[in-house]
Amino acid sequence: MITRLNHVAIAVPDLAEAAARYQTLGAAVSEPQDLPEHGVTVVFVVLENTKIELLHPLGEGSPIAGFLDKNPSGGIHHLCFEVEEIGATSEKLDELGIRILGDGKPKTGAHGKPVLFAHPKDFQGALVEFEQE
Ligand code: CO
Repeated sequence: MITRLNHVAIAVPDLAEAAARYQTLGAAVSEPQDLPEHGVTVVFVVLENTKIELLHPLGEGSPIAGFLDKNPSGGIHHLCFEVEEIGATSEKLDELGIRILGDGKPKTGAHGKPVLFAHPKDFQGALVEFEQE
C-alpha cells in the first residue's frame, strides 16, 4: 500500500531562519506557500530522495500552534508516505482499526493531491500522513 517516503515535516518557530539553514547546506528550498485549509505555511526542502516540509502556523487555531507551544524550538511533526490510491488507503486503515483524523475524508495537501492523516496513537506515536501519488 505505501510506496515511498514523500517527506518528513518539521514544525519551526521561524520559517525564514529554517529555510536559510537548509539553503546554506546546499539544498533547494521552495518559496513559502500558505495552506489556509491546513492552518500552515510550508516551505519544501527538496533532496534527491525525499523532501523536508518546514511548517509554520497560519491563522487562528493552527494545528501546529499547540505543537510549537510544547516544543518552542521546533521538532519533527509528521512523516508522509505515498500511496497509490487514497480511497483504498482509507478503507485499509478502517479495516485495521487505524483512526483517521478530522472527518475521515481526504483533504487536498501541499502538492494539490488528496491526503489523510492517521492518529498517532494508532502509529507508535508518530503522526503519519498518506498522500496519493
Ligand atoms: Co505533510
